[in-house]
Amino acid sequence: MANARITLDPAFTVGPVRRRTFGSFVEHLGRAVYTGIHEPDHPTADADGFRQDVIDLTRELGVSTVRYPGGNFVSGYRWEDGIGPIEQRPTRLDLAWHSSDPNHVGVDEFLKWSKASGTEPMMAVNLGTRGVQEALDLLEYCNVAGGTHLSDLRRKNGAEDPYRIRMWCLGNEMDGPWQIGHKTAEEYGRLAAETARAMRMIDPELELVACGSSGSGMPTFGEWERIVLTEAYEHVDYVSAHAYYYEEDGDLASFLACAVDMDHFIDSVAATADAVGAARKLTKKIHISFDEWNVWYQKRAESRPPTGDDWPVAPVLLEDHYNVADAVVVGNLLISLLRHTDRVHAASQAQLVNVIAPIMTEPGGRSWKQTIFHPFALTSKHAAGEVLELAIDAPVHETAKFGEVSALDAVATRDGASGEVAVFVVNRSTTEALTLDVDVSSLGNLRIVEAVTLANPDHTWQATPEDDSSVAPEPNDSATLSDGQLRAELPPVSWSMLRLATA
Ligand code: AHR
Repeated sequence: MANARITLDPAFTVGPVRRRTFGSFVEHLGRAVYTGIHEPDHPTADADGFRQDVIDLTRELGVSTVRYPGGNFVSGYRWEDGIGPIEQRPTRLDLAWHSSDPNHVGVDEFLKWSKASGTEPMMAVNLGTRGVQEALDLLEYCNVAGGTHLSDLRRKNGAEDPYRIRMWCLGNEMDGPWQIGHKTAEEYGRLAAETARAMRMIDPELELVACGSSGSGMPTFGEWERIVLTEAYEHVDYVSAHAYYYEEDGDLASFLACAVDMDHFIDSVAATADAVGAARKLTKKIHISFDEWNVWYQKRAESRPPTGDDWPVAPVLLEDHYNVADAVVVGNLLISLLRHTDRVHAASQAQLVNVIAPIMTEPGGRSWKQTIFHPFALTSKHAAGEVLELAIDAPVHETAKFGEVSALDAVATRDGASGEVAVFVVNRSTTEALTLDVDVSSLGNLRIVEAVTLANPDHTWQATPEDDSSVAPEPNDSATLSDGQLRAELPPVSWSMLRLATA
């Protein structure tokens, strides 16, 4: 069995674990909203029509922020359609997903759901078909206490107190030719800057996200960020990044290594932002909101929207079923996000329910967990304190997409107050188990609290509504700790969490 070695030292830290790293995303797309979070006839529905079983799973998943209402959907959205008496709301075409939206859920309902699920809303404004004024109107409706037309309208609609939403996305994927109202970087950069400037006149405390690239493979990647930030640098706090990692298309080794691409993506965006800042002689740093990321099998039929005269409400769309290898990749992507906690200050897994999601629902029936639920829930629950800088020494192997990659990838966190340490680690080898040695001698006298591994002899195993628990993280009985040396065996295609506390 090959060996890998990690050394931890409390003196070497990257930055704090940020709760917003564990964000998610609910778009008006497929069954994310209708029969996802919202199903008034469901046996568990609360007084507002929200499924309590989904709220409970959202809490168990450990979600911090939730981005809403899109996604591509937002670029054609009129937020006013979704307020006031439900029976008076219009049904509209959703061009992004070739669907119809009855607007039974809008901003007020979503904010009720945020409260019920204990999550922070992250609101996106439409900069596709709309502009500065409509963004200001939505902000006034949401965040102004009262005494104006739109803030009083909110109060009339039942929300006496302002929502005081802090994080706002200035449009969505405006670099993508598929986007309604797609723009050049110059056009979008100007619009983002002017929208941000005006929004801050209402509320200077806002945290504003400019659209970055919808993938590192976009032909405009890099130049897009440079031009947009040249226009908007002073006015925004974040630039977004989106990445959906490949289908496992027969090349498992490359698929398992795709966090290499996320690492490169983050480093490139940070470098571009810093170059713009340096050229402008500004000390302010722009941070990254990685507000769409996941595994997504885009080539499968599930991802194809309806066509022709068929404009259904809440069709089955993007309902990917994930296997064990997908969960290992999701765990690795979280490792990458945490490792970059100095620049990635927010992230949203796309999405939360039914649509490329860790939580699935059956209309009128049960909800269940996909394999990808587990690494997210455990990382969110146990990553705490500071992210440590790791020295990793591991075997390497060749991949078709990323060249030579390390078989092992890991991140560790340490909570200075409690002394608790958590190591999150993946074995990306498709065939070889690894013996991992972690030198924790500089962290004091520690004991193992928990060691779990998610793996299966058949990495293609998928959860189903009938069985979502027979393959889940299991205790890793190989884990030992003596004389400051933690040792554990990691099967191929696996994700593990090793937790230590003061002895
Ligand atoms: O999450 C699904 C879609 O992926 C979003 O609507 C869009 O922003 C991205 O292309």
